Amino acid sequence: MDESSKTNQINKLNDKNQIVSPNSEVIERALVKDWDKEIQKGEDMEKYWALEAEQFDWFKKWDEVLDESNKPFYKWFVGGKINLAHNAVDRWIDTNKRNKVAILYANELGEEVKITYYELYREVNKMANALKKLGVKKGDSVSLYLPMCPQLVVSMLACTKIGAIHSAVYSGLSSVAIVERITDINSKVVITADGTFRRGKVINLKPVIDEAVLECPSVETVIVINHTGSYDDGANLNENEVLYNEIIEDESDICPAEMTDAEDPLFILYTSGSTGKPKGVLHTTGGYMVGIATTLRKVFDIQEDDLWWSTADAGWITGHSYTIYAPLLLGSTTLIYEGAPDFPDAGIWWKVIERYGVSKFYTAPTAIRHLMRYGDEYPNSYNLNSLKVLGSVGEPINFEAWKWFYEEIGNSKAPIMDTWWQTETGMHMISPIPVADLKPCSATKPLPGVHVAIVDEEGIEVETGKKGYLAITNPWPAMFRTLYNDEERYKEVYWNFFSNLLYKTGDMARIDEEGYVWIEGRSDDVLKISGHRMGAVEVERAFNSHPAVNETAVIGKEDEVKGQVIKAFLILNEGHELDMSYGEGDVTLKDALKMHVRHDLGPIAVLGEIVSVDSLPKTKSGKIMRRILKAQEDGEDLGDTSTLDDL
Ligand code: PRX
Repeated sequence: MDESSKTNQINKLNDKNQIVSPNSEVIERALVKDWDKEIQKGEDMEKYWALEAEQFDWFKKWDEVLDESNKPFYKWFVGGKINLAHNAVDRWIDTNKRNKVAILYANELGEEVKITYYELYREVNKMANALKKLGVKKGDSVSLYLPMCPQLVVSMLACTKIGAIHSAVYSGLSSVAIVERITDINSKVVITADGTFRRGKVINLKPVIDEAVLECPSVETVIVINHTGSYDDGANLNENEVLYNEIIEDESDICPAEMTDAEDPLFILYTSGSTGKPKGVLHTTGGYMVGIATTLRKVFDIQEDDLWWSTADAGWITGHSYTIYAPLLLGSTTLIYEGAPDFPDAGIWWKVIERYGVSKFYTAPTAIRHLMRYGDEYPNSYNLNSLKVLGSVGEPINFEAWKWFYEEIGNSKAPIMDTWWQTETGMHMISPIPVADLKPCSATKPLPGVHVAIVDEEGIEVETGKKGYLAITNPWPAMFRTLYNDEERYKEVYWNFFSNLLYKTGDMARIDEEGYVWIEGRSDDVLKISGHRMGAVEVERAFNSHPAVNETAVIGKEDEVKGQVIKAFLILNEGHELDMSYGEGDVTLKDALKMHVRHDLGPIAVLGEIVSVDSLPKTKSGKIMRRILKAQEDGEDLGDTSTLDDL
């Protein structure tokens, strides 16, 4: 590329292959000005991460940066003592950030709450003391089932302050999913809210928890946040329930931070894999903090005057790492928003950006595609000039969405950081930084200190440009340390697939001549529905638990807005048809099945199509071959069918 075009702003993007270079404003402002040099710095990985770790307040410095003696159970910053809440909150109160807004909460009712670092500090301490009083100790787990509200942030930080392990369950998941997650870790305490605001209504969360807790004998106390006002006129609580406001009211606003070890567990987050059982991804303290804070600062060029908005809910890893923890670890202001992206109309996000002057905005392709359908008038009626850097996460972004995001939201001047990473990686792994030359729809290159390769089934690197398995070749600080209660599965699923101990991501990808990575979708039976990860087996299990269903196979069907939706192939039991009426009223069996699956998996299970079939393609050993159904659906060659029993 010639140098003269480098700083020219591109106004219209017509060609997918066009390189989008940063404009002079982006370069001038950037903390890191030379992408290649920064990547080179990461070549001495341990030195690079150790230098980044220096930014924190350690109670005791580490003895060793990386311990590889028991692969794949890696340890980072061995011997170090550090507390996340202390670094995210306490350490700012003796600086000029004391009265800076830490959390800016806004919701669809137009309400807002601003919480400064000092206020956050006091509230976290009160909650931490209240948890201690309820018997929560270092190493105990606390389950959270909460909407995006300030008390959610307080609850997470209060757990980390005392060394308790939190497990947040997305507030759209069903009681079935909650029971599974609470019983796996035996939480004594659950924190929830009465409800959440969504599209002009209050969605009640408490009844979902009530139903779940009946089946969770470990739960001794449920802390309830009076968020939507159900308890304004006095509380009508069950025996084991307490109100958040009441338990923190008389607590001291001083609470010393637990001296947690760098390798002490921080949180567990459940995610889907290719088997039915959700995986409890365990993250620990020191390395995680170093990984997320470094990547947020560099990828989004976070500086003192920024207003950061990540739209991800705290029920997912993006919410943990980048909506909540990393911005606070950088002493930044993070906006948390409660409500739908298209209510009261499809301009609400743009209105929020204009109202507060958001400078860095991070969201998912599915949301961009959804809002794009409403046309340009919405973004065009707001002043979005404050936006300096944009970000995308969760699934591949298609060119039309990239172009719209870049031109209509970023005004052809804010570069898009297409960040590739996973619940397991904890932090961004493949992503540009603002001064990078972008190739639309490529996540560009591994970040400094991260090393990846495209390999075949043996773990041998394929030729440049060839598609293969995306593997990570070196450990990284924010990596998960194991699957909770399932070390065997941790080794089996992620590390033993290739013979040479590479980390298997489950994604296919290729790397072009210039080292840019192009993600080509999953290699396993994991679906991405509106960016949410869901195992095919999980959905099949939900269908199979209905009395009318004999057997099910599901695949992801391409969808313009949601990326993928579920297509289910069902073998129904004798005497059943999808169109027959079932139960009361006008309900057909198909409707009943939809309700049944949504009850089990929550509304994130978006069912695109349900069809009834006589048989399913299986291997001779009886495993369903979803890839055959998928190839048939996409009108592709069926590939190797030699192990197929019956088509
Ligand atoms: O398939 C990749 C896709 O999301 C998977 C990880 O999902 P989850 O653990 O739910 O984490 C999502 C948020 C970090 C990956 O294996 N994925 C994530 N980011 C991208 C992506 N696919 C393409 N491009 C991305 N930027």
